[in-house]
Amino acid sequence: MTMMEKQPRWLPDISQRPGPRYRAIAAALRDDIDSGALPIGAKLPTHRDLAWRLGVTVGTVTRAYAEAERGGLIGGEVGRGTFVRDPRPAEAPGDDSGIIDLSVNALTQHPNEDRLRRALASLAERNDLSGLMHYPPVNGSARHRQAGALWIEQTTGLAVDPARVLPTAGGQNAMHLALAAITRPGDSLLVEQLSYPAVKPLAGLLDLRLVPVAMDGEGLLPDALEQAADAHGAHALYCMPRLHNPTTVTQGAERRRAVMATCRRAGIRVVEDDVYGFLADGPDLQPLAALDPERVLFLTSLSKNLMPGLRTGFLLCPPPLMDRVRTLLRATLLGVNPLGAELAAEFILSGAALESATQRRALVAERQAQARRLIPGATSDTACPHLWLNLPEPWRREDFARALLARGVRVTPADAFAVARGDTPHAVRVCIGGVERTDLLEQGLRTVAALLAEPAAMGESFV
Ligand SMILES: Cc1ncc(COP(=O)(O)O)c(C=O)c1O
Repeated sequence: MTMMEKQPRWLPDISQRPGPRYRAIAAALRDDIDSGALPIGAKLPTHRDLAWRLGVTVGTVTRAYAEAERGGLIGGEVGRGTFVRDPRPAEAPGDDSGIIDLSVNALTQHPNEDRLRRALASLAERNDLSGLMHYPPVNGSARHRQAGALWIEQTTGLAVDPARVLPTAGGQNAMHLALAAITRPGDSLLVEQLSYPAVKPLAGLLDLRLVPVAMDGEGLLPDALEQAADAHGAHALYCMPRLHNPTTVTQGAERRRAVMATCRRAGIRVVEDDVYGFLADGPDLQPLAALDPERVLFLTSLSKNLMPGLRTGFLLCPPPLMDRVRTLLRATLLGVNPLGAELAAEFILSGAALESATQRRALVAERQAQARRLIPGATSDTACPHLWLNLPEPWRREDFARALLARGVRVTPADAFAVARGDTPHAVRVCIGGVERTDLLEQGLRTVAALLAEPAAMGESFV
């Protein structure tokens, strides 16, 4: 191999390689990819160009490329050329290990590759990129705040002042900022009795004691909330009123009003997590942030709608807390990566984010219908990218998850979401949005359905 420059000028030395010339070229290609001299994504010379420079026929290069393509080393894209391929499987995580992974609450990435390509191209053509090369303002640029406000409006129906919106490094970072802003070390934090698992390490870092609050089919129980707040002197609540992870429950309008009335009485500030909200049928339910804007910090993200790799989210913050959140942002990040925030703004302001949301709602609806066909008892909200399966007696959640894994399917038992011991239901979460191939999803769901229909497996220690 000689060089990889801006132009596709790969030129292997095949003079010492034995056998037919096309084999020699294919072998040189493999060696240069293995050594990293030809990196993933590198563009290869055209057949004609390489043939001319090597002194072989075009047919020889065509045969060599075809052989490398069959081996999965390179791939052609119509009208763009031939590229070194990423050897990692483009399928769901776990496909390489033979496991169908239904434990990760992501949505398939594939349809958004083109949107990313378009957004990058549109960025590359702009003449104001220097603004993205400096430390960003700690609360993001006006354009990023405006994009965040629009995304919140599009997904909740709530018109918000962009001055109250802070771009964040994803929903997780927004959670950190919001919780740190409304608590002090040693405080108690009220949470739904089953909650997003990452609230546990965050509570550990912030030295917060998690207090579970009982839920029913409509989410948080206001009486239980009041009692827990009284008993623990708690003044902060983290909750997911829409498409709750993991139970899929959405709080109705009445319940929301009752929860917020309790919060007002007990002086509780609320972190409202709405990262799945864009999947809901329509923004007809008012977010908690609309019911009490002074008390609620609302967070959302583009991870589930566009791509988690963007690491972009938004926090809608009551004005009196803005300074504290800004200080936290400055102390931890100096500011959110402006390139990521700019891409997010491009997605939102161009309409691509909304287009993706529509596509994803359709994908989830299709997959929920498929799941219902295969697992008739599944009662989850059909807008959710996962199922919450209550297991029939006498299945225990860990035994079920273990038995399923032995059959090649991974799901998450309720323990991962429980914030306290005891009272954990015998249920599992089954994510249906992340596996790219529908035939694999079908196979996974059939395996779940088959196990549900069997007598419970015996635990490992039975004598
Ligand atoms: C309820 C909930 N909140 C927040 C997050 C984190 O989102 P992000 O990827 O934007 O950090 C997740 C991710 O799974 C989630 O399920």
